[in-house]
This record gives sequence, structure tokens and C-alpha cells, in this order.
Amino acid sequence: MIPSAARVAALALSLTGLASGTLYQNAESLPKATNYDFIIVGGGAGGTVVANRLTENPRTKVLLIEAGSSDFNNLDIEVPSFAPRLGRTQFDWNFTTLGQPGLNGRSIEYQRGFVLGGSTAVNIMAYCRGSKDDYDRWAEVTGDEGWSWNSLQPYIRKIENPVAPADHHNTQGEIDLSVHGHGGPVNFSLPGQLLPTDQRVIGASLELSTEFPFNLDYNSGDTIGIGWTQTTTSNGHRVDAANSYLAPVLSRSNLDILVNTLVTKVVQTGTQRGGEPIFRGVEFASSSSGARFTRSASQEVILSAGAIKTPQILMLSGIGDSSHLSSLGVKTIVNVPDVGTNLQDHPLSTISWTVRSTNTLDNVRTNETLAAELLQQWNSSRTGDLVLGPGNQLGWLRLPNNASIFKQAADPSAGPTSAHYEFIPTDSFVSFSQPFPSQGNFFTMFSNLISPSSRGNITLNSTDPFAHPLIQPNMLSTEFDIFTMREAIKAARRFMSAQSWSDWIIEETSPTSAAQTDEEIEEYIRSTCFTVNHVTCTAPMGRTGSNGRGSGALNSDLTVKGTIGLRVVDASAFPFIPAAHTQVPTYILAERAADMIKSGF
Ligand SMILES: Cc1cc2nc3c(=O)[nH]c(=O)nc-3n(C[C@H](O)[C@H](O)[C@H](O)COP(=O)(O)OP(=O)(O)OC[C@H]3O[C@@H](n4cnc5c(N)ncnc54)[C@H](O)[C@@H]3O)c2cc1C
Ligand SMILES: *[C@@H]1O[C@H](CO)[C@@H](O)[C@H](O)[C@H]1NC(C)=O
Ligand SMILES: *[C@@H]1O[C@H](CO)[C@@H](O)[C@H](O)[C@H]1NC(C)=O
Ligand SMILES: *[C@@H]1O[C@H](CO)[C@@H](O)[C@H](O)[C@H]1NC(C)=O
Ligand SMILES: *[C@@H]1O[C@H](CO)[C@@H](O)[C@H](O)[C@H]1NC(C)=O
Ligand SMILES: *[C@@H]1O[C@H](CO)[C@@H](O)[C@H](O)[C@H]1NC(C)=O
Ligand SMILES: *[C@@H]1O[C@H](CO)[C@@H](O)[C@H](O)[C@H]1NC(C)=O
Ligand SMILES: *[C@@H]1O[C@H](CO)[C@@H](O)[C@H](O)[C@H]1NC(C)=O
Repeated sequence: MIPSAARVAALALSLTGLASGTLYQNAESLPKATNYDFIIVGGGAGGTVVANRLTENPRTKVLLIEAGSSDFNNLDIEVPSFAPRLGRTQFDWNFTTLGQPGLNGRSIEYQRGFVLGGSTAVNIMAYCRGSKDDYDRWAEVTGDEGWSWNSLQPYIRKIENPVAPADHHNTQGEIDLSVHGHGGPVNFSLPGQLLPTDQRVIGASLELSTEFPFNLDYNSGDTIGIGWTQTTTSNGHRVDAANSYLAPVLSRSNLDILVNTLVTKVVQTGTQRGGEPIFRGVEFASSSSGARFTRSASQEVILSAGAIKTPQILMLSGIGDSSHLSSLGVKTIVNVPDVGTNLQDHPLSTISWTVRSTNTLDNVRTNETLAAELLQQWNSSRTGDLVLGPGNQLGWLRLPNNASIFKQAADPSAGPTSAHYEFIPTDSFVSFSQPFPSQGNFFTMFSNLISPSSRGNITLNSTDPFAHPLIQPNMLSTEFDIFTMREAIKAARRFMSAQSWSDWIIEETSPTSAAQTDEEIEEYIRSTCFTVNHVTCTAPMGRTGSNGRGSGALNSDLTVKGTIGLRVVDASAFPFIPAAHTQVPTYILAERAADMIKSGF
């Protein structure tokens, strides 16, 4: 770890210098006299978009409250390839799941960002919108055509700004710029350093094009195939919700940001004539033993605390399943059975091979001299291996239509443009079960289940808002899910057997190589698989007006069912997880949400 004190100090100066009083470091310092139109809880992918868009109107006064710090310019956040260092640090909530029956009872670390920028400040930066079918399914289940792929196009394009890769290589044939917007706050780029494996991945796709077709741009609406990775990186550094949506608007005098402060619940501030409770208040504190403060918004409270904390806050506030709430002695104010249910995530597995080359990214890990040189290179020119995010290509793939599983299970994918599983080809060793070898050169294929049918949940363990809720992702709890993970491993072996790899790959390493029969592969997956950290769907939107279990926790405009003045704008609100990494779908949801809020204001 090399935190740069100078950089941190410079940031603190710029944050406080731009508009004095805008950034408050603790709850005590927030002026009592300020009246807010909106209070946003959580400064991650959802909350920053809403804070940015609502304060475009200078007459709208907004308070954004973030539990983590404002230290988003930390070197470990900025350097793209340092992303794997961020778990279990000051930037992590340090969640752990319950033992998962589908993973042989294992509990796993469940990372979430604890800093302005939220999980976008700690993620692995894959830039993926999801597919046309993913959004068309959202429109169908909510009865709201505004969530369809076509209707969302203005928001999808408004987010983004394609920029040159760090090495300024010619990107012809790697992206279809005609499907992208430009001039938006989120810069993204193609891989900033080319690798010897790149043309082998593309070559294998051309060679085995029936099963692994090349796709010029997986963000076109049709994701299927192998294509070049787009990442939230710009000029060799990470782009997150804090430096894209927040930093440029910190000088707005109508935006106040309070960090290091946990919202402990939302507070009922009145009752509407029809009897519906109004929730325009929030309670917050800077430490578990510290004073509790309350503030209310004249218009709305917007929960953007992410898919673990948003349902916890709702439940602590008396909004949730009444039988669950009463089991903890929480008085139910609104019975919304779907709060905390419907959790969806993407399980992740790996296979590695030894390779004939000595030139792989493993060297950055095994050779300290090289690592120091690369850091110096990054520091002086923002180039070199450290600008890289996940693999330089991604693959989005479907099971064949005649796969035997479809005789017993419905297809959980949204449709033909959504993948069942994803490949992330990687030029080094990665494993969730084995230590890094101290020497050697490797290739790894991550495969992850991108259209899962398993469902988990978030429940309360305690009424203490500073305690973690119980997190049960319940991964690989259906036949479809384990079948597809198994088929993904077999597909990875077929992909790597292409001629294109013959001069590179030596052999598959243990322990996967020992897994040959379906039973052995299944056991390998259940005993080693991890997560892509895409927890979502825990306060799902549904049809406006419909009530009861399975009808959603939110109306299709993201207001919480049975309440007035309270909305959820984050990845909790997805009804189904998109067949994609989930930051861009959160930005998309939040851009439309901000427009809905503004038009009703
Ligand atoms: C390790 C990792 C890797 C990932 N890789 C990728 C990837 O490569 N590509 C991709 O697209 N997605 C990736 N994701 C997922 C993506 O980052 C998330 O889906 C997205 O950030 C979700 O946005 P959100 O607004 O729902 O929550 P977040 O971005 O997590 O924001 C929630 C914010 O609320 C704050 N908060 C929570 N509770 C409170 C409270 N009570 N009071 C005040 N503030 C609170 C949190 O500190 C946080 O800042 C990854 C995530 C992780 C953790
Ligand atoms: C998570 O753990 C790290 C390492 O122990 C610690 O520094 C950090 O403060 C913890 N995060 C939170 C939110 O408590
Ligand atoms: C995005 O790119 C533009 C140039 O196109 C640059 O001015 C801006 O600082 C970049 N933003 C981030 C967050 O990197
Ligand atoms: C480690 O990296 C340095 C700098 O690139 C290089 O000179 C050296 O040969 C490398 N060491 C090994 C063992 O490969
Ligand atoms: C980056 O370069 C600056 C200026 O040359 C130097 O002060 C700083 O220590 C360097 N940081 C790292 C992490 O190398
Ligand atoms: C599916 O169809 C392909 C091509 O027609 C065939 O080779 C394969 O055996 C079939 N698989 C199953 C499970 O029926
Ligand atoms: C949460 O999920 C677990 C495991 O599937 C289940 O046993 C439990 O009943 C669920 N709890 C609630 C409140 O839905
Ligand atoms: C749930 O609460 C109990 C009692 O406080 C505690 O011992 C336990 O560790 C908690 N469980 C989890 C998963 O946090």
C-alpha cells in the first residue's frame, strides 16, 4: 500500500476550497438551519447520479449522506490494477455471508465500497450496460414501458464518454462507436495496454465462431459473443461515481455532502389524508455510541445505500415483512413483504493453465523490482500494466437451445440477447482456493453465472443499525445454476483447446484438472466458487399499486410501496439482475429516476 499523503491533502484542500461548507466530515458540524428539498442516503452509483442531476436546478437544495469517507482519490482506488487490494480495508464494509448450502455451507467475504463512490470505487471497472432483453423484461414485470431498452436509450447514452485507451492504440475493430453516446460524466475506454494473449482470444473466437462468435460491441443491446472489454478507466486511472458524477459538481452551493455518517433509519414525519405514512425524515449518527441527529426533507428521502444496507434501513424503519419485523420486536409501519427478498448475485469460478511464455501479468506479482518500476511508470505517465482492469476481453455466452436442463427448468435469462454465463480471460494466475504460486506463468479463465435462478435474502439479525444484517445469497441453490456453471467450465476447456492457443497453453493446473466427470466438476465449483460481488434486487420494483408477496417492494417509479416521500435509487431496485456487471445498470436506473423526480417536482 502506498497512500500518497500529498495527494490526499491536495484533495481535502480542493474539496473544502471549492465551496466552503459543502463537505461536512461529521454529523455535529452540519448546520442546523439549512433546509433541504431532498436527502440522499449513500454516495455510490445510485446516490451520486441523483445528487448531480437534482442540483442542476440551482433552486433545489440537496443533502447527500455517506457512511464512508471522502478519500476517493486514494492511490489504491486510482490505480486500476490495484483493485484487488481494496477488500477488508478502510474502503470495505467487511460483510460476510451466512453459510450457503449451495457452496458446501461456506460463508464468503462480501465486499461493498465504504467511501464516496460506493462500490464503484472498489470494483473491477467492467463497463457493461446489459442487454436489450434485460431491460425489456424490467418493463414487462413493472408494466412501465419507460424501463425498456428503447425508452432508456437517452439515459444510456447520457451517462457515457468514450475516451482513448491509455496507450492510445488504434481501436478500430474493437468497439462500435455508433451505439455509444459521448460527453457524459462517465469516461470509459478499451484496454490501455495490449497483451500477448489478446490476439489468441480473438483468434480462438474466429476459429470456433459457431460456439464463441466475435462481437464487436457487447454494449449494443445484443451481448452475445466474445469482444473487447470496455472499462471505467480514463487516462490510465479509475473512473468511479465520485470522480465522475460528484467531483465536477462539488462547487454547487446547493449540494451539501456529509461523510463518515451512518443513516440509522428513515423517520415517519406525518400521515397523508388517505392514511399513508409520510417518510421524509432521516436519523443519523457518526458512531454507534454517538448522538443521534434527525433531519427532514421538504420533498423526498432517497435511499441509495446499496442492496445490503437499503433493505436493512427499510426494515429498521418499520417497512418490511411484518412477521419478520415482529420477530425482532420492530413495529411494522408498512407491511411490504418483498423488502430484503429476491437477492440475486453472480457466482464466479476459475480454471488456470500453465503457459509457455515468461511474459504474463504474473510477473507483476512475483517480481518486486518490476512492480516498483511499473508503479513509477504509472505515476509518471499513467501507462503500463497497472492501467489494466479485468481481462482485456469478455465473453457472453448461452447454453445451446437443446441443453438437457431445459427439459426440467425454465430459462432464467431475459431472452436471446442475454448470456447464461460469462468468460473473463485473464493473463495470470487467479484462484479462490489456492495461494498464488511464487513463480510460474499462467492463464486463467473466470466463468460466471450471469443469468442465475437462485434467490437469497437480507434479514435483520439485530435492531442495532451499526450491526450487519444477515446476508444469505443462497448461490447455486437451483439445478439450473449448478448445471450452467458446470457447462461453463466445459465450455472454457473447449475454448482453450482452439489452435490459436497451441503455442501458449501447456496444461490445465490442479485442482480443476482433477475434475473431469460432472460430479467432480460440480464438487470443484461448490467447494471453490466465489462471487462477482453483484448483489442486487433486494428491494425490487414491481407494478405500481399491486401489493403483497412477490409484487415488488417498490412501485415502478421506485417509490416505496405504501409510503409517501420515500424512494429507492440503487441496485436494490432491480427486479431481475441484468446479464452484465451491475454498475452501469445502476447508473442507467438512477439517470431515469432523477428525471422522474425532477418532472414531479
Ligand atoms: C469488488 C467488487 C467488484 C465489482 N466489479 C464490478 C465491475 O467490474 N463492473 C461493474 O459494473 N460492477 C461491479 N461491481 C458492482 C457495482 O460496483 C455495484 O453494483 C454498484 O456500485 C451498485 O451501486 P449502488 O448505488 O446500489 O451501491 P454502492 O455503489 O455500493 O453505493 C452505496 C453507498 O451507500 C453507502 N451507505 C450504505 N449504507 C449507508 C447508510 N446507512 N448511511 C449512509 N451511507 C450508506 C455506502 O457506503 C456506499 O457508498 C463490483 C462490486 C464490488 C464490490
Ligand atoms: C473493515 O476492516 C478494515 C481492516 O480491518 C478496517 O480498517 C475498516 O475500518 C473496516 N471497515 C468498516 C466499515 O468498519
Ligand atoms: C473524462 O475525460 C475528459 C476529457 O474527455 C476529462 O476532461 C475529464 O477530466 C475526465 N473525467 C474523469 C473522471 O476522468
Ligand atoms: C524482475 O524485473 C526486473 C525489471 O524489469 C528485471 O530486470 C528482472 O530480470 C526481473 N527478474 C526476474 C527474476 O525475472
Ligand atoms: C509519484 O510522483 C511524485 C512526483 O514525482 C512523487 O512525489 C510521489 O512520491 C510518487 N508516488 C508514487 C506512488 O510513486
Ligand atoms: C443438441 O444439438 C446438437 C446439434 O444438433 C447435437 O450435436 C447435440 O447432441 C444436441 N444435444 C443434446 C443434449 O440433445
Ligand atoms: C431467507 O432465506 C432463507 C434461505 O433460503 C430462508 O430459509 C428464510 O426463510 C428466508 N427468510 C425470509 C424472512 O424470507
Ligand atoms: C447475529 O447476532 C448475534 C448476537 O448479537 C451475534 O453473536 C452473531 O455473530 C450475529 N450474526 C451475524 C452473522 O452477524
